[in-house]
Amino acid sequence: MLVRVAYVSNLIGTAGRSPLSMAQIVGVSDVNNRRDHLCTSMLFHDGQVVQVIEGQRVDVDRLLRRLDSDARLGPLRMVCDMPIRERALTEAVTVCHEPQRTLDHVGLTDLDHVTHGSLEAMLEYRIAA
Ligand SMILES: Cc1cc2nc3c(=O)[nH]c(=O)nc-3n(C[C@H](O)[C@H](O)[C@H](O)COP(=O)(O)O)c2cc1C
Repeated sequence: MLVRVAYVSNLIGTAGRSPLSMAQIVGVSDVNNRRDHLCTSMLFHDGQVVQVIEGQRVDVDRLLRRLDSDARLGPLRMVCDMPIRERALTEAVTVCHEPQRTLDHVGLTDLDHVTHGSLEAMLEYRIAA
């Protein structure tokens, strides 16, 4: 079954705050996600991340377990977990390059307030661009 899940989490230490740290995350993710036929999109903002993951249930759950035990992330707050007919994402990994503009567009001040609705709006707008 094809599913879309999304979570918000606090980034611990310097994770996701520097180009090097982001490149490390993206590098590993790109290799693994291609192997597991997963598509993901990440948006980093003010020490937090929201990540959308699409793929087969078993592959998504395996990734969630790895994320759950990743010391760079705090607890995962799930904001979406639903079956989908087709993917909204096409790439193994994309990083949103305009996080502030994206949040402004959907009327959010921070990732603490991401809901299923605002996530869908972000997906339609440019979380994947
Ligand atoms: C914000 C963030 C997003 C991540 N996204 C992914 C991902 O999409 N795919 C992935 O395999 N690992 C991702 N990781 C890394 C995993 O938590 C874990 O370190 C990695 O999958 C382990 O891979 P390995 O077993 O090949 O070393 C992410 C880590 C962080 C901090």
